[in-house]
Amino acid sequence: MNADAKKRAAALAALELVEDGMLVGVGTGSTVNHFIAALAGRRHRVAGAVSSSEASSRLLRTAGIEVLELNDAGDLALYVDGADEATRHLDLIKGGGGALTREKIVAAASRRFICIIDDSKLVPMLGRFPLPVEVIPMARSLVARRLVGLGGQPVYRQGFTTDNGNVILDVHNLKIPDPAALEAEIGLLAGVVAVGLFARRGADLLLVAGDDGVHTLKR
Ligand code: 5RP
Repeated sequence: MNADAKKRAAALAALELVEDGMLVGVGTGSTVNHFIAALAGRRHRVAGAVSSSEASSRLLRTAGIEVLELNDAGDLALYVDGADEATRHLDLIKGGGGALTREKIVAAASRRFICIIDDSKLVPMLGRFPLPVEVIPMARSLVARRLVGLGGQPVYRQGFTTDNGNVILDVHNLKIPDPAALEAEIGLLAGVVAVGLFARRGADLLLVAGDDGVHTLKR
């Protein structure tokens, strides 16, 4: 099975967890795009969606699914999103698509966070994938220097502006044995909007698609 087929298998497994009448939190990325396509077939049975990006909002609307503002929605029963890396402890790196801040907000507002990945993303320790950090533009160099001080090599994501009007630094060569501690440390740097570590509010359920089917890991 190729990576795209695995992503679709994980997305279909997540759809099984969507109940009638639910308002669903929807993430961003190619794996979630499979989920949105599948959710389209159930559009009359869900109350709508709260989206983590303009890109996903467009896809949801095209699929005939109503997109609500989080401010009008309250807490969500379920949030479905992908990840760039995940551990068996359900700590994640996210933000490869640059939507990490809104993803963090929707995850925080959701009672259950279902993360869907293909098995190439399961790692023993986070850090192989460059860690995305969303930064206020005027603080780019300042934050980059601080990230070097933490042992990383930040690379400015050229030509990319987030949905919130900010920039992304992708931090290479970090070893992350304690994701929650690093999430807090980077999150406290002046100018940082969000760090793509999801450990303090990691996934509740990880659906990992491989050649032999979809495996479920629980926190
Ligand atoms: C976007 C994300 C995505 O979940 C992550 O990049 C995975 O994307 P894909 O499903 O395309 O592999 O965090 O900000």
